[in-house]
Amino acid sequence: MKWNADLYDQKHAFVFKYGEDVLEFLDVKPGERILDLGCGTGHLTKQIQDKGAVVKGTDYSPEMIAQAKQLYPDVDFAVENAADFYTDEKYDAVFSNAALHWVLDANGAIRSVFNSLKKGGRFVAEMGGKGNVERLIEATKQVLHNHGYNEKADTKVWYFPSVGEYTTKLEEHGFRVTYVIHYDRKTPLQDGDQGVAKWITMFGAQFLDGIPADEKEQILAEITKKLEPFYNENGQWYADYKRLRFIAVKE
Ligand code: BEZ
Repeated sequence: MKWNADLYDQKHAFVFKYGEDVLEFLDVKPGERILDLGCGTGHLTKQIQDKGAVVKGTDYSPEMIAQAKQLYPDVDFAVENAADFYTDEKYDAVFSNAALHWVLDANGAIRSVFNSLKKGGRFVAEMGGKGNVERLIEATKQVLHNHGYNEKADTKVWYFPSVGEYTTKLEEHGFRVTYVIHYDRKTPLQDGDQGVAKWITMFGAQFLDGIPADEKEQILAEITKKLEPFYNENGQWYADYKRLRFIAVKE
């Protein structure tokens, strides 16, 4: 999937704004070697560096990394696959905000993170958890089915695991999970009744790939209509985000 990194920064700044809260859990110590996995346009990577860490930001998207390098030329960024990466020099911590749900090969990601950490190193992350944007996914699937796009409706775009699923995987790979929480975070959407369409166009483009433009517009309008009773609160629209946040230590 090709990302529009400018639009991501302008309209979806909430992704890294919420991430600042997760950063507190990372509790950066000066001099630590830290990997920011799925760093997007690099805003949190820069904040980690400003706290005195030796940081590297990686992302699967070349567009995101190009934007990150342009914004923060003094930070180390690289295009890497979170499900399959390797480093000789090990990290004190791996941090990840709002990225791991894009990695369908969760075992590959956890194995790579484990191997990249020093003994005693920590993996601190937040991602979409089970039930994340459930109403939006349900409405999207229903409307795609109604339009005869049955295969598209079944596209698996994200992985939103439960506490049990993800912590089991972490433990199977050798981590000790010292903290985990699965919580509701109702998330405001911008642009009023255009917000759902814009969110899907930005993040769920795979559902709509190849559908003619006028039909796509119609589909987005129908999804919006289905979601209105749940998402529209007196003109402010919210999405039903659910977050999974954890700290896991390499034993
Ligand atoms: C999330 O942060 O939960 C999310 C963002 C984009 C697509 C899906 C989930």
